[in-house]
Amino acid sequence: MNSIEKLINYHRLELEEYKEVLSCWKEKEIQEKLKKEAVKLRKNHYGTKVFPRGLIEFTNYCKNNCYYCGIRRDNNHADRYRLSKDEMLECCKNGYDLGFRTFVLQGGEDPYYTDERMVDIIRSIKLLYPECAITLSIGEKSRESYALFRKAGADRYLLRHETANEEHYGKLHPASMSLSNRKQCLYYLKELGYQVGAGFMVGSPGQTLDCIAEDLIFLQELKPHMIGIGPFIPHHDTIYANEKAGSVELTLFLLSVIRLMLPKVLLPATTALGTLDPFGREKGIEAGANVVMPNLSPVKNRKLYDLYDNKICTGEEAAECKGCLSRRMEKIGYQLVYERGDALE
Ligand code: 5AD
Ligand code: FES
Repeated sequence: MNSIEKLINYHRLELEEYKEVLSCWKEKEIQEKLKKEAVKLRKNHYGTKVFPRGLIEFTNYCKNNCYYCGIRRDNNHADRYRLSKDEMLECCKNGYDLGFRTFVLQGGEDPYYTDERMVDIIRSIKLLYPECAITLSIGEKSRESYALFRKAGADRYLLRHETANEEHYGKLHPASMSLSNRKQCLYYLKELGYQVGAGFMVGSPGQTLDCIAEDLIFLQELKPHMIGIGPFIPHHDTIYANEKAGSVELTLFLLSVIRLMLPKVLLPATTALGTLDPFGREKGIEAGANVVMPNLSPVKNRKLYDLYDNKICTGEEAAECKGCLSRRMEKIGYQLVYERGDALE
C-alpha cells in the first residue's frame, strides 16, 4: 500500500512516509483525493458545523524577537497598545451578545500582564460568562503560571510550535528562544488539562518539505486538540520583508493531511489564509478545517496587531465579520454554530 492509501486508512505514518506524501503535494489528483477524504472525515465527526472563536488581541507588546513577526520587540516602528481589563470585558460582552461562546485572549509576551493580572482577568470573564470557554494564547510561561491560569478558569491554550526542526527553529528565532522549551510548554499544558493547540507557518523562511514532515511527526506524537496552520506572510519591518509568502495550495493540502492524521482535531481556516486568498477561509473549510476565528478586538486597535502585512478584517466591527463569515460559510454549505465547540474525545 502506498503512503497516501495508508494515511487514508490508518491515520498514522512514519517520517519517510510523510515525506513521500509531501513530495506529491503539487499533483492535482492527489490534492483532490486527500481533500475528498478529509472532508468526508470532518463531516462524519462535525457535520457541516463551523465553530467560531472570538479573538481578542489584547496587547502587541512583546519581549521576544521572533524574526518573522511584526510585533517583535526590536521593531520600533510598531505602535504599541494594551487593553485594560474593562476594555477586554467590553470585547467579551460584545462577543457574547453576538453569540460567541469561546473567547481567545491573544497577545505578545507582555510582562505587564503578570500572573496576578491574568488570573484576575480570567476569573472576571469566567464569573460573567461561566458557560464560555476561555482560550489563552500568550506564549511561553512557567508550569506554575500555566497551573494558576488553569485554576482561574482557562480551558484552552494555543501555542504554535512554529517548526519541529531545530536548525529551522534557529532561523526563525533568536538564540534566547529554544524549540525544546517550546515543546516542554506544550507538554506541561497537556498535563494540566488544557485543550492544547499547536501548529506552524507554511512556507516560513528556510522551511523545506522535510521540515514539514517533522512537524507532522511532532503533531502526531503530541496529539493536540487544535492545530493552527497558516501561510507565512512577510512583514515589511522584519529581516524577512523580502521573502516570498507561503503557498495557499500547500496550506490547503496540509489541512487535508492533518485532518486525515487526526480526524477529530479542531482545525482553523486562518486569517492568514484569508489574507493571501480572497476565498482562503472557504477553501480551508473545504479542505477539512472546521474553525474560524473572527476578531473581537476594538477596531481602533486592530491595525496595530500587525503580525504580517495586509491582514484582513482590520476595519470591520465584530458584527460585520460575523455577518460576512456566516454568509461565506452558508454559500459553501456550512453553518457557523454558536457553541463552545470543545474537542471531541
Ligand atoms: N506570517 C504568518 N503568520 C505569522 N505569525 C507570526 N508572524 C507571522 C507572519 N509573518 C503567526 C505565528 C504565531 C501566530 C500568532 O501568528 O505562527 O504563532
Ligand atoms: Fe471580517 Fe469578512 S470576516 S470582513
